[in-house]
Amino acid sequence: MRYLLGLDVSTTGSKALLIDETGAVVASHTTPHDSSQPHPLWSEQSPAGWWSGMAASIRAVLAKVGDPGAIQAIGLTGQMHGLVCLDASGNVLRPAILWNDQRTQAECDEITATIGARRLIELTGNRALTGFTAPKILWVRAHEPEVYARIAHILLPKDYIRFKLTGEYATDRAGASGTLLLNVARRDWSREVVDALDIPAEWLPPTHEGPQVTGEVSAAAAQETGLRAGIPVVGGGGDQSAQATGVGAVRPGIVALTVGTSGVVFAPLASYAYEPEGRLHAFCHAVPGQWHFMGVMLSAAGSLQWYRDTLRPGEDFGPLTGEAADIPPGAEGLIFLPYLTGERTPHPDPLARGAFVGLTSRHTRPHLTRAVLEGVAFGLRDSFELIKNSDAGRIDEVRISGGGARSAVWRQIFADVFGVPLVVVKALEGAAYGAALLAGVGGGVWPDVPTAAEQTVELGERVEPGEHAGAYEAAYRLYRDLYPLLKPVFERQAEL
Ligand code: XUL
Repeated sequence: MRYLLGLDVSTTGSKALLIDETGAVVASHTTPHDSSQPHPLWSEQSPAGWWSGMAASIRAVLAKVGDPGAIQAIGLTGQMHGLVCLDASGNVLRPAILWNDQRTQAECDEITATIGARRLIELTGNRALTGFTAPKILWVRAHEPEVYARIAHILLPKDYIRFKLTGEYATDRAGASGTLLLNVARRDWSREVVDALDIPAEWLPPTHEGPQVTGEVSAAAAQETGLRAGIPVVGGGGDQSAQATGVGAVRPGIVALTVGTSGVVFAPLASYAYEPEGRLHAFCHAVPGQWHFMGVMLSAAGSLQWYRDTLRPGEDFGPLTGEAADIPPGAEGLIFLPYLTGERTPHPDPLARGAFVGLTSRHTRPHLTRAVLEGVAFGLRDSFELIKNSDAGRIDEVRISGGGARSAVWRQIFADVFGVPLVVVKALEGAAYGAALLAGVGGGVWPDVPTAAEQTVELGERVEPGEHAGAYEAAYRLYRDLYPLLKPVFERQAEL
């Protein structure tokens, strides 16, 4: 039996996932890691911690297989947008600045002013957003000139793991799309943007397609991890393109709805397109020759997690969401805004706040639960509507996955609010699974990514929109009106 290893350096842990050539999961291990918030709006992690955690996870999965020599290839994925700064000898210069760090609004404004909002969106497929990599580089230049002066290499989190595994500086084009430095149409760095921002082009690593081999496990990494030296390591992809790969959203028409801590609506594209206002991200897919649109909600299942931990500590999600089934759609006028950690799509606003709007003495705890589930579905419908009205073309199927998809009540709410059937994907391993499939293509197990997905992705139940679908329309319209009305309130609250 041949094996494939998917490695995912996420915000919460370093995960190693071993699958076999039928796509069956053989072993999985995650070593958790912490983030630090040294100042309000900051979010940082130690790259050395990612690597020691990953080495431990790799050792743990290898201990569960008889013949670690049978690993054909390794695929990488991980949190996107993070900035890792290395000196000329490959030493880490400062903690990595993560995707959810919000310190760079001034740099985003500077980038938009330098390049022009329209041109920036045309070239990079995106607006300047605080989480992206380019504004972080400018922040280091402005605030830590002594660090900036020593930078020789810029890497994304997963590419730091690649560097430790293979000694190579390299990245994948799906992940690189989240830097704001890629010419997304041409699938390589944008000389125009890099030069306009005065970032040394030689800091940026070569870019590769998801299944392309970028290097091999070095002797030093073999010693640290127990892997065999010489195993090929493929480009892989940022966590969202790898997640989409792992649920089979690898051709136009198949849309992935992922309800994890964050919520994502992901639509593959056959050619490059961008949303003229940059409200959707337009990125390269990890599938060669494909691009994708993506809407991102920052607190999807994260909202439910907050609600449970704060108001219903210790309760299981099953009974908690189950009780919401008895409340009528629309939660009798109660609306929840899920902007607990600011928002990205369609409101790129770090200052947006969560809210329950319309509480009355009639409302009970299950009403609050129902409002949370509905509010998240309304917010993700905003992204779905943008995709429906974009150049993404016909939508044949929407596949739902992620922790939130485990709740039957929530799945039905999504189907009703979106007004389309949803197909549940039995994908429990997330982005690491997609990374392992990309490794399988690079390692010769499958001829291409769509074939890999077709032969491995397991589909489950189909959820049809029910009798309640129409009942949500008025509530959704109200939901949409609330953010613009409350925006000035959020701004004043941020000043407090
Ligand atoms: C994607 C994004 C998140 C992070 C963290 O744009 O910001 O998916 O990659 O998981």
